[in-house]
Amino acid sequence: MARNGSLQFTDLEAVGPGTPAGRYLRLFWHPIARLKDLPAGRPKLVEILGEMFTVYRGTDGTPNVTAHRCPHRGTPLSLGWVEGDTLRCRYHGWRFDGTGQCVEQPNEDRPFCDKIRVQTYPTQEYAGLVFAYFGEGAAPPFPRYPDLDRPGVLVADPVEVLPCSFWNKIENDHGHRPWVHRATALRKNRSDILVIRQEKVEETPYGLRGSRSVSGVKSDAKSSLGLVKGEQAAAESDLQMARYKHWYMPCLKLWFQRTRAKGFEHRRDLWDTKAVWTVPINDHTNASFDVSLTPLVGEEARAYAKSRAGQEAEAESRWDLAEKILAGKMTLEDLPDDMSAYTSFTIEDYVTQVGQGPLKGRGEEMLAPSDMRIVMLRRLWMREVGALLEGQPLTQWELPTEPFIPATAWSRQLQGASA
Ligand code: FES
Ligand SMILES: [Fe+2]
Repeated sequence: MARNGSLQFTDLEAVGPGTPAGRYLRLFWHPIARLKDLPAGRPKLVEILGEMFTVYRGTDGTPNVTAHRCPHRGTPLSLGWVEGDTLRCRYHGWRFDGTGQCVEQPNEDRPFCDKIRVQTYPTQEYAGLVFAYFGEGAAPPFPRYPDLDRPGVLVADPVEVLPCSFWNKIENDHGHRPWVHRATALRKNRSDILVIRQEKVEETPYGLRGSRSVSGVKSDAKSSLGLVKGEQAAAESDLQMARYKHWYMPCLKLWFQRTRAKGFEHRRDLWDTKAVWTVPINDHTNASFDVSLTPLVGEEARAYAKSRAGQEAEAESRWDLAEKILAGKMTLEDLPDDMSAYTSFTIEDYVTQVGQGPLKGRGEEMLAPSDMRIVMLRRLWMREVGALLEGQPLTQWELPTEPFIPATAWSRQLQGASA
């Protein structure tokens, strides 16, 4: 297992304040909620990085993140009421504005509001999500991703909360697809999922990039994909678009995949741009915020959005099914045929990742050559966290300023898909 001086890789499982990984993660913006789960006027308790916070949107719709507890007697502010753009505590009615300034103390003859503040945190809406920055000092510039900033149907999926370390999620590797997702591939007649691919990984200015290829064959080897004549061009295009996966430090994965939306499975030409931010809720729970952008406009876009919205109901019971599978009461093959592939994929990933258990206690792993990305990711983290602990300069990650899928290809997709 990787180590850097006295720092061991398994030490990075802890994410609370003052822990090595917790300190590093607090240097970045993180998503905390979907916009659609945060109706204006309803405060919500949020746990992230082992700490509690309150998030609310006032009447102007702007999200605000404040400390968990009221500075008066410590009652959770998420129990309170939103009034205009302010938040009122449920215990004795103190009221705070979006900057954290106390603006009312109803029980006091001589209010001392100007002396009272509650901590607030920078927030930003992006890609259907609310992001916040929990570090000290000024927040770094908010990172935007050119591949998400283009026309199409943007869907933020139901947040996936998994009872395991965020490492179990961000170390999910390319080699799992034909095995973990076998049941879905067979159910949905997706032979491409069953193809074993090899992956080369390299460090980039933003983190890591993996390029995948089919073992021993070039992209024109249609027979190895089980494709029939006439699908060659589509297969080549598939392989081009699916070849790269991008991992942005610390916890974002961005890639391209054929859509899995119900009713659109036959559309070999229709690609989702996928971005998944994974954040630790605490040392043993993580949340993934999964966003996709699909190149459709007009009537088809509305039909597509409706199909994706259908997943919301399935998501309600998906972890009950996953826990039954983990407990041996049913199998992945028993999931219903008409379940959306998005939902069954999440269940398949849940049982394998949650089933791994914590880093500490898992025992020694036997990493193989195909686990190169995991090895590189661990090295990257150990290097950066080690530098942070020693007060050394950290890598200043640079985001791409241009989309990975060129504008002309995206327009072609838009036109082709909507033709
Ligand atoms: S505890 Fe919040 S007003 Fe008293
Ligand atoms: Fe998966």
